Amino acid sequence: MSDSQARFKKQAAEAALDQLISGMTVGLGTGSTAAFVITGLGERLADGRLSDIRAVATSVATEELARQSGIELMELTPAGLDIAIDGCDEVDPQLQLIKGLGGALTREKLVALAARRFVIVADDSKSVDRLGSLAPVPVEVVGFGHEATVARLELLGGECRQRSGADGRPLISDNGNLIFDFFSRTAFSPLELAGDLKAETGVVEHGLFLGLADEAILAGPHGITRQVHP
Ligand code: A5P
Repeated sequence: MSDSQARFKKQAAEAALDQLISGMTVGLGTGSTAAFVITGLGERLADGRLSDIRAVATSVATEELARQSGIELMELTPAGLDIAIDGCDEVDPQLQLIKGLGGALTREKLVALAARRFVIVADDSKSVDRLGSLAPVPVEVVGFGHEATVARLELLGGECRQRSGADGRPLISDNGNLIFDFFSRTAFSPLELAGDLKAETGVVEHGLFLGLADEAILAGPHGITRQVHP
């Protein structure tokens, strides 16, 4: 990540943190942009700008960073969350997203669904006209019979590549499953592909987040732009 990209991610994170009010319950995303949200929240709690915040983490990595940052963690309950803030891999003009290049898509979607407000933070390189332009669609698949599951997924018109960890071994998600990246051979309808992926037995979740985001805060060389759900 370049210095300027890191600066943009931090600017977007800080703008989202300005939406927090003491007493809120907050969903904390995963990834390098979400990390700026977590450390920034820790700073605001430490200096008293915010208090009485409880948070749900979307990954083990986020949980660890939140603890180090002095943020009180809680379970996800039916009461839901006041707000969730997370990064993304792509955002289109309809506020549809691809998420999950960090492998945390299932917990991220559970938290996004539970949030009464879901705010995306990113540098503006994540903005695309059409989903799938830059990123594949991550898919979490149960280990049992995964080769058969993947063969069925590829009949949907794409190639599945298994995600590896830093050690070169197959990445195991926080939920104990495998992650595949689905590269569609052609432009796709996000709604149709989301339905098709979800319908495959063996698929736990996919990284198409449709109709979930309320706002995307994108930072770049020309400052901050906000995409708001109509
Ligand atoms: C994690 O699983 C992803 O959904 C991340 O939110 C996404 O990959 C964005 O990551 P960065 O903020 O590191 O770009």
